Amino acid sequence: MAKLYVNPKVKKGHLNPELQGHFSEHLGRCIYEGIYVGENSEIPNVNGMRTDVVEALKEIQVPVLRWPGGCFADEYHWKDGIGPKENRKKMINTHWGGVVEDNSFGTHEFMELCKQLGCKTYINGNMGSGTVQEMSEWVEYMTFEGVSPMADLRKENGHEEPWKVDYFGVGNENWGCGGNMRPEFYGDMYRRYQTYVRNYNPNAPISKIACGANAGDYHWTEKVLETTFDHGNGYMDGLSLHYYTLPTGDWGKKGSSTDFDEKGWYATLNRTLFMENLIKRHGAIMDQYDPEKKIGMIIDEWGTWYDVEPGTNPGFLYQQNTMRDALVAGINLNLFNKNCDRVKMANIAQMVNVLQAVILTEGEKMVKTPTWHVFNMYKAHQDAELVESTIETKEIGMDEFKVPNLTESVSLGVDGKLHVTLTNLSLDEASDIEAVFTETAVKSVKGTILTGGMKAHNTFEEPDAVHTENFDGVKVDGNKITFTIPACSVLHLEVEI
Ligand code: AHR
Repeated sequence: MAKLYVNPKVKKGHLNPELQGHFSEHLGRCIYEGIYVGENSEIPNVNGMRTDVVEALKEIQVPVLRWPGGCFADEYHWKDGIGPKENRKKMINTHWGGVVEDNSFGTHEFMELCKQLGCKTYINGNMGSGTVQEMSEWVEYMTFEGVSPMADLRKENGHEEPWKVDYFGVGNENWGCGGNMRPEFYGDMYRRYQTYVRNYNPNAPISKIACGANAGDYHWTEKVLETTFDHGNGYMDGLSLHYYTLPTGDWGKKGSSTDFDEKGWYATLNRTLFMENLIKRHGAIMDQYDPEKKIGMIIDEWGTWYDVEPGTNPGFLYQQNTMRDALVAGINLNLFNKNCDRVKMANIAQMVNVLQAVILTEGEKMVKTPTWHVFNMYKAHQDAELVESTIETKEIGMDEFKVPNLTESVSLGVDGKLHVTLTNLSLDEASDIEAVFTETAVKSVKGTILTGGMKAHNTFEEPDAVHTENFDGVKVDGNKITFTIPACSVLHLEVEI
């Protein structure tokens, strides 16, 4: 019997809703078709945003959305995407699939989408190929209330009031598609560009996010912080980190999303758990410059990255999503919770039809993926307080791909209940668990479980093959509960105390 110790009296930090954030790029069928179908589409929509998708996203309480990229942001010139649609430039999306980008989804449409979702806005600026003036004018266009050329232009385009930009990314992957810069050069560029990301509304300050490292590039983190460090207060609110889980670790042959074996299962989960090393090691460097942890680690791209589905455009990054992805999501979200002292936002890549999507669409059809169900279970952690917890685990896995059999995190939710989220990484072994709540009597427990075979997934023909069910097998005894978590599953327990 594995023991899970929970001490509700010891609070470990606030769980920003943004830890469950999302990312949407002009890539494949994420924005176009997946989210935006235009006002004249036969697919039911409100101001061009498809109703089924918006409803499904509202259900998981999307807290924040990053846009327009990714690498697309490094070539995005925002003025191409405003004004009458018939006048907007048509161009090639050079990065993703060479398809025509007609700019019908631009700043106004993004803000409309966030309004419908009720989420915060995270705009990623173009430092790779854009000018300081262009970035500064975009901020002015979106957020300045008074009289100015950009505010007037916004009003001419039909939006009188400024919008709230919650987060602004000063560049994306500037070590790669964002200009192939060295960290010292990026650091200097960051100092310059961020100067003109002005806070026009002191009551609604913009949080500025600097471009952080690619996975284990600790040199980048070190040098960017060293270069920007003495620049004064408020120069940086967050530093990003991008890390994708590739089953093979090989960009040339990543592996299939649905056709994998036991080794592919454990290799993927083992590589997912590397996220913890990344948080600790980048975090340790950040601690040297920012011991008070004022700068958030912003993991604004994470998720699985497989070979595209056979027969689909390789530039569209369309992949299926199985129980393996559900485990990846559950493990990562638990890790973000556990490291909430430093990690302040995380954005899964990407929201619809791209990489580890929570939603897949095909014409007018839509499916919620296993990953969607995990977000739906974990939403109870949003705005909660992380409490102290530890679980006894054993090492399982295959060959060099070892993993603990269980991961967990526990929070005291805004509803006054404890929320325990657990993942069982084993493919064949259920685990008996006794959870002990320090000096806290348990009144009742409600459970929800997502489980199935390792390759189980939802298709347009069988959209509900993987779904959550009530989990009834919990016995309560004073300050203890006992239950058995099945193999290959993600579990949410709502504990009334
Ligand atoms: O999410 C797909 C791509 O991955 C993004 O455009 C880029 O930032 C990253 O390399």
